[in-house]
Amino acid sequence: MSEIDLEAKQLEIIDNINSANNLDELEQTRISVLGKKGIITQEMKSLGKFDGDKRRQMGQQLNIIKSKIIEAINEKEELFKQQELNKKLASETIDVSLPARNKRIGKLHPIPQTVEEIVAIFGEMGFLVAEGPDVEDDWHNFQALNIPPSHPARQMQDTFYTKGIDERGASSVLRTHTSPVQIRTMKNEKENLEKGKPIRIIAPGRTFRCDSDLTHTPMFHQVEGLVIDEQVNFSHLKGVLKSFVEAYFEIDDVPLQFRPSFFPFTEPSAEVDIGCSRKDGTLKIGAGADWLEILGCGMIHPNVLENCGIDSNKYQGFAFGMGIERIAMLKYGINDLRTFFDSDIRWLEHYGFSSFDIPSLVRGL
Ligand code: DAH
Repeated sequence: MSEIDLEAKQLEIIDNINSANNLDELEQTRISVLGKKGIITQEMKSLGKFDGDKRRQMGQQLNIIKSKIIEAINEKEELFKQQELNKKLASETIDVSLPARNKRIGKLHPIPQTVEEIVAIFGEMGFLVAEGPDVEDDWHNFQALNIPPSHPARQMQDTFYTKGIDERGASSVLRTHTSPVQIRTMKNEKENLEKGKPIRIIAPGRTFRCDSDLTHTPMFHQVEGLVIDEQVNFSHLKGVLKSFVEAYFEIDDVPLQFRPSFFPFTEPSAEVDIGCSRKDGTLKIGAGADWLEILGCGMIHPNVLENCGIDSNKYQGFAFGMGIERIAMLKYGINDLRTFFDSDIRWLEHYGFSSFDIPSLVRGL
């Protein structure tokens, strides 16, 4: 090819490059020009037929043309890539000012919801949340709570024993109630108590009993309450429980009845009933002719305080324990305990809560 021809060829090639419609077409052009059998490659190969100056001159020109072509290809390729990116970005645009789509992301089970409500109410009264292990040793679950090995109260609770033996030589158990968290808290907080900081905790959590029928499931939930200070009496217990019941059921005046009862860890002990009425099969919480039991409570037995190293002549306290399923059933009209654990999505759809609604006394439970 002559120099003039090369000049014309270069223009044609660059024209081809610029008119490529996509990366594929561009690649075709590149191969036809710079590939093994491409025009420019062939021209390079045929330089040998020239001699001396002519070869050098042609060689230089070819190199210049080649680099111009490469530059044009690169530019075009960059352009395609940019266009592709812009297209992708445009397709992925999110208008952050649009309202959130009402997507179904599941519902909160009534148990955690009820726990959150309980925590919100007692939190407002200055209670902290305490926790303990699901697998307890015999001492925390029974002995420290004034339930010695031969005590008949052990038969009241159908205990799941584990195979392991703890350091005191007794079997560990799946805790039968949340009361062992009282013991753990008293032991941990004893020094703070002596520095003048009262104990005020609630302990929600799982509990286990070997029992399964219409009104019992092997795993269920309780919440324990504990208050210890120098001047705590039964009227404080009454006041706290009354405030709780009214806040929880969102009713201004709920009559409470304290019925004498027995628990080894409290003295005196009581069971608490709330007023209700039953008309045409529907239960209504609040003043009425009937009573409904909702929890057990009492003043901490001096033996329990002493078991935790707390001077029972100086300190007193009260405790209470409540079944969470039970109060959830009462508030939300759920009438079969076992449905809580059926994992039925339709049930959850009906009785569940939005995970965005965080219970608080100010905004409502
Ligand atoms: N632990 C008891 C139970 O599971 C409930 C209970 C009753 C807890 C009285 C207390 C209490 O703290 O004072 O049956």
